[in-house]
Amino acid sequence: MATTTTTTTRSGGRSCVWARLITQPTEAPVEEESALEALDRYIHRPHLINRRIGGTETRYSANSLSPSQVVEKLRAADPEAGVPENFAALLELRRSCDLVVVHHELRATTATNPLSSYCEALVLDAASQRAWLCPLSNHPATFACVRLTWGKSTAEGQTADARGAVTYEVLLDSEAAEPARPCGSPPYTLLAQADVEAPTFPSSHWFLTKFVPKFTSWLAAADGPASELSRWRPTPETMLVPPAEYARLYRELRDKYGPALVESWTESTDPEKFVYEDIGIATFLILLFRRVAELEAEQGQAPANFTYKFVDLGCGNGLLCWLLAQEGFRGLGLDLQRRRIWDRFDADVELLETAVDPKYGLTYPSCEWILGNHSDELTPWIPLVAASSTPQACSSQVLKERFLFVNDDDTHVVWASRWAGSERQKTVDKQ
Ligand SMILES: C[S@@+](CC[C@H](N)C(=O)[O-])C[C@H]1O[C@@H](n2cnc3c(N)ncnc32)[C@H](O)[C@@H]1O
Repeated sequence: MATTTTTTTRSGGRSCVWARLITQPTEAPVEEESALEALDRYIHRPHLINRRIGGTETRYSANSLSPSQVVEKLRAADPEAGVPENFAALLELRRSCDLVVVHHELRATTATNPLSSYCEALVLDAASQRAWLCPLSNHPATFACVRLTWGKSTAEGQTADARGAVTYEVLLDSEAAEPARPCGSPPYTLLAQADVEAPTFPSSHWFLTKFVPKFTSWLAAADGPASELSRWRPTPETMLVPPAEYARLYRELRDKYGPALVESWTESTDPEKFVYEDIGIATFLILLFRRVAELEAEQGQAPANFTYKFVDLGCGNGLLCWLLAQEGFRGLGLDLQRRRIWDRFDADVELLETAVDPKYGLTYPSCEWILGNHSDELTPWIPLVAASSTPQACSSQVLKERFLFVNDDDTHVVWASRWAGSERQKTVDKQ
């Protein structure tokens, strides 16, 4: 577990202490390639490690910056962070580093933790096998600046054997005997005191038991060489909706509908799972519908503020249809079997008990969006129903656009299960 080893330096008249939280041995020294891969994964998909994060976007990214440029660029990337002049000295940056600044939107706020978003800087000195994770926020719900050192050398400069080690340290402000943040020294709660052996704040427990093991396994490539899937990174071309926007709207809809729906759930299924999952899917679809509406209005293919109509094939409990209707979209849901909860929903949205049989050339020409979320045997039929609902078949170009089908005739198909079933959706907040 954590030890109290500290190193002290003076910076801008203040003495700074790096307190070692923990050193994790690894089977082999951490290779540069896997370290870069791990850090890249953390930057682009931090929700894999921190489920509170709902969406992240990169604000700034550059390689080979001098320490003073790091400070300058950080200030420009997040003007509100109040990055101090001595930031580079505080981190003991001595040579050129790589810098990435990301903006995190959190999935939920609570009365005790009203923080909804913050920026985080990742500074990398690959030659020294070091990286710093620096949340640029004074809010106690974020962590203090953490320094990671990997490879053969331990933090104390001893050389390990053929095995490796990753050391996690936290920056303390010795005068306040509290962990310091690059942007100031607010009251701090990750470690209530400099006594790192007995962290008192629950999140320090999370850091040591969740963050450290996972991040170490990434650094050490413990899962083997990164698969193509784990190398996948969202890019503007592959993202149909911006993650940060998704996280903001999800938070809003979650607060607006979640508690009341969970409270009054009449189905035998787990409301915590189904309610928040459907809120996530509705969030995604609303952003997608809006984006496509804007694009089409711009291109003169649809009137401004056009409201699309959807049909949800195999709508089950009908919640997705109800949520979309509450947010102003017109549509209907079809399912083999009526559910008890439809009594509550069908005053607001049309839900029909009927068998959908696509074999006989089923079409929905009056619906612009055809949805199928976990729709069992209907799933492979969704694009075919869409294609036959419009005179133009889907082109191969359209097929490349990841389950978004946009035909000249304005018929769209989304396999909501595919999209909404991505990591973001799976991280339904149960915390
Ligand atoms: C796994 S459930 C998913 C329900 C809902 N879409 C959701 O995500 O919660 C699949 C649903 O598809 C319906 N279904 C399957 N085949 C169907 C068909 N041919 N016609 C109408 N509904 C069908 C089932 O009755 C079931 O409610």
